[in-house]
Amino acid sequence: MQVRVTVDGRGVRAERHQMLLGLLHSLGVRLPTLCHLDGLSPYGACRLCLVEVARGGGTRVTTACNLPVEDGAVYTTSSPRLSRLRRLAAELHLARCPDEPEVRRVARALGVRRARLRPVGDTCILCGLCERVCREVVGASALGFEGRGTSRALASAYGEVPEECIGCGACSFVCPTGTIRMQEAAVESLRRLPGSERPCRHALTGMMPAALCSMSYQCASCEVDQRLREIVSTHPVLALGRGPEARRLAEYLVTTRRGAGRP
Ligand code: SF4
Ligand code: SF4
Ligand code: FES
Repeated sequence: MQVRVTVDGRGVRAERHQMLLGLLHSLGVRLPTLCHLDGLSPYGACRLCLVEVARGGGTRVTTACNLPVEDGAVYTTSSPRLSRLRRLAAELHLARCPDEPEVRRVARALGVRRARLRPVGDTCILCGLCERVCREVVGASALGFEGRGTSRALASAYGEVPEECIGCGACSFVCPTGTIRMQEAAVESLRRLPGSERPCRHALTGMMPAALCSMSYQCASCEVDQRLREIVSTHPVLALGRGPEARRLAEYLVTTRRGAGRP
């Protein structure tokens, strides 16, 4: 079912319950984001994708990524107030991560060159991308947050590798601040385990049937691992379900199976 809304003075149709950010993207309106990734549930943490919503005689500022469109609503994506609030949010992120390219890129696009605040010594901006990709795409649920308010933090960011972790690296890939980095030694030890102890991560993510493994679960030298990223142009788990990329992946896996002499 469709609804009618107004975006920057232009009347448009949208799917009921569609998130506003998706609608804006389809209209060619790009807002800055640090906690959004297509395919993951919305989170509303970075406070960069702000819009103004006029309805019933009032105007409020809210985040577009987790805002379902409403029939008759009037949305504004650009105003002095929005610019000021976005710059403020960018400054806060920059104070945490003054050297991270993605944060610097977003801040620069908003006209923020440096943060007026002192660095807080923790680069995690609590965007939740790592936790969501691990739970919603990988299905491992190895990550979680603990604490509240200013003491909220990623529980396992600086600790041991969680028991549930399959070493896929998706969390590190999506992290916009470089807080999560895959340590070669830890990855090697995870992948050296035989499949019976820690099942194939590509099979667990649904990317390939476990029977396809042509390496007898010698994960440290996984051939699929080595070539997947260049083939799908993104992290393998994020390519799942995407049309052309998924097809290329399937073709590659068929080729691998033939190469391994399997039926
Ligand atoms: S490496 Fe994969 S399984 Fe492990 S925490 Fe990151 S996303 Fe989850
Ligand atoms: S570790 Fe990275 S991806 Fe995870 S919440 Fe922090 S900034 Fe976001
Ligand atoms: S993208 Fe909307 S709050 Fe981060």
